Amino acid sequence: MDAVASPNPIVARYLEENPNSKRLHAEALTLLPGGIAHDVRQQDPFAPYITRALGALKWDADGHELIDCAMGHGALILGHGNPAVVEAVTRQAREGTHHSACHPLEIEWAERVTRMVPSAELVRFVASGTEATMMAMRLARAFKQRDRILRIDSHFHGWNDYAQPGFLPLASNQLPGIPAAVRDLMVSAPQDLNAIDDALKSGEFAGVIVEPTGPTWALIPISDDFLRDLRALTEKHGVVLIFDEVIGGFRWSPGGVQGKIGVVPDLTTMAKIVAGGLPGGAVAGRRDIMEQLRFSPDPNWNREHKVLHNGTFNANPLSAAAAIACLDQIVDGRVQAFADAQTAKLRIGFNRVLGRMNVEGAAWGDSSVFHLILGVPVPARSDGDLRDPKLPAAALKKGSPKAIDQAFHLAMWHEGVHIFRGGGLLSSTHDDAVISRILVAFERTLATMQEHKLL
Ligand SMILES: Cc1ncc(COP(=O)(O)O)c(C=O)c1O
Repeated sequence: MDAVASPNPIVARYLEENPNSKRLHAEALTLLPGGIAHDVRQQDPFAPYITRALGALKWDADGHELIDCAMGHGALILGHGNPAVVEAVTRQAREGTHHSACHPLEIEWAERVTRMVPSAELVRFVASGTEATMMAMRLARAFKQRDRILRIDSHFHGWNDYAQPGFLPLASNQLPGIPAAVRDLMVSAPQDLNAIDDALKSGEFAGVIVEPTGPTWALIPISDDFLRDLRALTEKHGVVLIFDEVIGGFRWSPGGVQGKIGVVPDLTTMAKIVAGGLPGGAVAGRRDIMEQLRFSPDPNWNREHKVLHNGTFNANPLSAAAAIACLDQIVDGRVQAFADAQTAKLRIGFNRVLGRMNVEGAAWGDSSVFHLILGVPVPARSDGDLRDPKLPAAALKKGSPKAIDQAFHLAMWHEGVHIFRGGGLLSSTHDDAVISRILVAFERTLATMQEHKLL
């Protein structure tokens, strides 16, 4: 798809002010499908290119300074270029990036994960969140000797064949390449305990997988009671409960969502922060389930019960070094508390600006994440705690109308802010000055959109 010029003045300005990104995009189109490496980076008229980042800031190929609200898709809770992480990775790069063998750092890394995450009796490292959810579902299936997994509509668990159906509707024809047989093994239920209870009564499920933050980093709120009751339901039905803490892990609290609310799943999947912002992931959980990965002296057991697992970059030393340097800085929760407080200021500020400028929409979220919807009528709200905005789930899922969404992202870019998928995940480097700059940019963006009758 080629970039198409549009009469929309915000798009016109973007085309004019980003000639280097435009050129890079054209070159990328000849080498990379769609010119991108991740579906979320698809952007009209073209995706911008970033060349450098530090703290809460990054710089694009055309020299613009931007406040980053995407923060490594949530991996960088300490901001870009955290000195201890950079130092640890640099040191390790000199010692070797892959030893084709066990190395001491993987034990230090595992020690921290098992100390911090309540459900983690044992841990196995993998290379991404997608691999972690794939492994957790396999462990549950092997443990219960049942093939079906129950998941919850719209919850995101990465892009493996088992995780993707149900993020989009199971019957969706937008799942080419995912075998019907695989889709049949996944059942997706609404985020509703009665529906989940009903489904589990069939006795055919190995486990339930859930994003304990609510889908896509709290896009649709989920209550602590829901998670508590889900724990009780899975116990009642004797199925494995998997918390996908790829986002919530180490962000919601040093022990993730589970550490914050005291609900302990059987298995936990992690990525992003667990690897200190480098590639990597982990599955952790109950000893009896995790030990299915262990070799036994009994060859018959190995043949019949050992869960297979390979992976060139499992627990790779660079990620281990980054992870240890990161986890040691966030173990006491002060980093998370600061990032949470800053993000709450931002959510409150967004809602104040929306009210003042008479723009339909809302900001909401939890922990250090926020979501924004514009151009959609939402119930009046206070500007206080926005964790339970009582917005209709369907409207939240749909987000802002497409034209508004595009203009908003580009206009915020012009104002020096990178908004990520209608929201953002912040870090401890988003200090008061940064939050003020985002709010000024937001107000100016809405004014520009109003001026051009885009809101
Ligand atoms: C909750 C959740 N699970 C799994 C994944 C997949 O992780 P990865 O992108 O590392 O494969 C993501 C990625 O954003 C996620 O947010």
